[in-house]
Amino acid sequence: MKILVTGGTGFLGSHTVVELLNKENEVVIIDNFSNSKKEVLEKIKQITNKNFLFYEGDIRDKVLLKKIFTENKIETVIHFAGYKAVGESVTAPLKYYDNNLISTIYLLEAMKEANCKNIVFSSSATVYGKPKTLPIKEDFPLHTTNPYGTTKKMIEEILKDFSKANPDFSITILRYFNPIGAHPSGLIGENPNGVPNNLMPYIIKVATKELEYLNIFGNDYDTKDKTGVRDFIHVVDLAKGHSKACEKIEKGVHIYNLGSGKGYSVLELVSIFEKVTKIKIPYKIKKRREGDIAACYADPTLAYKKLNWKAEKSIEDMCKDAYLYAKKNK
Ligand code: NAD
Ligand code: UFG
Repeated sequence: MKILVTGGTGFLGSHTVVELLNKENEVVIIDNFSNSKKEVLEKIKQITNKNFLFYEGDIRDKVLLKKIFTENKIETVIHFAGYKAVGESVTAPLKYYDNNLISTIYLLEAMKEANCKNIVFSSSATVYGKPKTLPIKEDFPLHTTNPYGTTKKMIEEILKDFSKANPDFSITILRYFNPIGAHPSGLIGENPNGVPNNLMPYIIKVATKELEYLNIFGNDYDTKDKTGVRDFIHVVDLAKGHSKACEKIEKGVHIYNLGSGKGYSVLELVSIFEKVTKIKIPYKIKKRREGDIAACYADPTLAYKKLNWKAEKSIEDMCKDAYLYAKKNK
């Protein structure tokens, strides 16, 4: 299958491209490197020993999009490209609405014109807001608390409306829980600029002594050890979920949670990381981070039933691989 991957040099995109190439798909990537580096292209080639096409540019460039669809007979699009920093989206909401919404609208227009009818879209568990019960199922009500999350919810609405008008399209919405880890080769992984916002990248910076200690946001939640609980999923498992989603072409809109179904607390993750890497992670307890919820984990059974996909890697694998990548790329 010939698959266009938008944002294919990013954290999730690069791992997905590796999975798609390993499954003998032809891959075309578009990325503007707004949050990734050129070296990733070489690393993907090194891991897979396979070639792919790359276009450098912005998906909001209609001319470039048309060129890509004219030069390549794309059968499926996986749409990762977008901005994803929750905090920044609060201070710069228009930047988020502009990039995330406009890019998706232009992409759908270009697909329609090129008669390419399959799309897999990166949504997020953030669209569930604060769930009333756990685990979270796909039919739970949606409620967002920041502009980033709202862009995801709005794009889901756009895709549903688009599907009504274009019933022959196959639209898969994947709602990711907390992807962490890295490719076991240590060649690609997550490398955020500046001080990380997310837990695993922050732990890594403490492990590599770039930061002194971890701030744990809140130990007064109604959870097993009073710290926040999340559903961590290995990025390679997540990538495999995309490969499965591409294989399942089904008209209409189909929504799946991609999570492990297990909840680990912040303190549990720290302690498992310490055990696996034999590195002590000093931490200080701080007050709750605004907008955080106590606990969040998926019911991933629908993805198992319909896509024949489930997360297989352990939390130990996630810690080991994330640290290996950090060591190799310090
Ligand atoms: P990332 O920032 O590493 O990757 C996104 C890629 O898209 C980057 O390489 C960036 O340069 C590119 N990009 C952004 N805007 C672009 C544009 N207009 N044109 C071309 N390229 C553009 O992020 P990621 O972690 O790989 O996330 C991928 C997708 O998954 C995003 O849509 C994100 O919102 C979503 N998601 C991520 C997580 C997570 O925890 N990583 C969780 C839920 C959902
Ligand atoms: N945390 C800390 N210290 C830190 C960072 C995080 O204690 O330095 C805690 C948080 O309070 C939370 C847990 O670790 O309890 C996880 O926080 P992350 O920032 O790693 O992840 P979130 O669950 O807040 O959000 C992430 C992405 C969102 C996405 C969501 C669901 O950042 O974009 O997962 O997929 F929407």
